[in-house]
Amino acid sequence: MRTYCIIGDPVSHSLSPAMHNAAFNSLGLDYVYIAYKVSSSELEDSVESLRSVKISGFNVTIPHKTAVLQYLDEVDQLSRKAGAVNTVTNIDGKFKGFNTDVHGFVQPLLNRRIDFRGLSVLLFGAGGSARAVVTSLSNVNGISRLVLANRTYSKSLELSKLAEINGLTCSVARVEEAKAMAKRFDLVVNATSVGLQSNESILDSEDIDGSSTVYDLVYRPVMTKLLENARAKGATIIYGYEMLLEQGAQAFEIWTGIKAPILAMKKALFGVFQEPK
Ligand SMILES: NC(=O)c1ccc[n+]([C@@H]2O[C@H](COP(=O)([O-])OP(=O)(O)OC[C@H]3O[C@@H](n4cnc5c(N)ncnc54)[C@H](OP(=O)(O)O)[C@@H]3O)[C@@H](O)[C@H]2O)c1
Repeated sequence: MRTYCIIGDPVSHSLSPAMHNAAFNSLGLDYVYIAYKVSSSELEDSVESLRSVKISGFNVTIPHKTAVLQYLDEVDQLSRKAGAVNTVTNIDGKFKGFNTDVHGFVQPLLNRRIDFRGLSVLLFGAGGSARAVVTSLSNVNGISRLVLANRTYSKSLELSKLAEINGLTCSVARVEEAKAMAKRFDLVVNATSVGLQSNESILDSEDIDGSSTVYDLVYRPVMTKLLENARAKGATIIYGYEMLLEQGAQAFEIWTGIKAPILAMKKALFGVFQEPK
């Protein structure tokens, strides 16, 4: 019997327990995955408690992805680059951190055989997930330019430093400016919370070009207003659930060393969501 969990605040909305328990069940593994609400003031004690109960591994979500680094024994190179950890594994009592959002973001692009050579990218947002996106983009060869736009301008300036340190040609735009030039980008990514459980969209359909790829990290609802607008213009769309699934699959593989049963995990998600047409 092994135990895994997710820590975050809020955490009750998390789909990770359903996804990982489905994966364990489908392979007949006697493992269980649970969610713990942990506030920022409880983080250090909670990580130590997980150590004393010999937890096999855990996921970390909002708002602890950066703060947790200081309580781990080791972190891999990608998490250090991103400055954030979302997956921890217990190796003989030592906690090692990984960032599977970085892989989770890029895999749906690879699945669609998107050519990164000369690709221009417009990224909305400068929070935790935008950091993972920037780290992902700096790991693939060929991105020609990256423009960052965020409601709080100073945060995009800060994120642009991470992009540049990691070798990307990057500039910063105000959100309104970015909307006006969105049609000129091959890939447009929404890494803000705009559209989360709402009918809002960072871009109207007139702001979107049919030859672009539009990727929304928001996965509730599955078909966000942004993706609806992009689809109406004939653009290629990438759903947030795809990243969720891929980051979960990589976490599963880090923990178990077994190839993730991605179909069982997807089925668990669509037991909650309605599958898009
Ligand atoms: N698909 C996946 O696997 C996956 C993984 C991670 C996150 N996500 C989703 O991605 C979204 C962002 O997550 P996160 O972890 O990056 O959160 P975060 O660190 O809290 O950052 C939130 C971002 O959204 C912006 N924002 C929030 N409300 C806004 C508004 N009303 N108008 C304009 N911008 C607004 C913030 O701008 P300011 O800086 O101005 O506050 C910030 O850039 C969430 O919806 C989350 O569910 C999906």
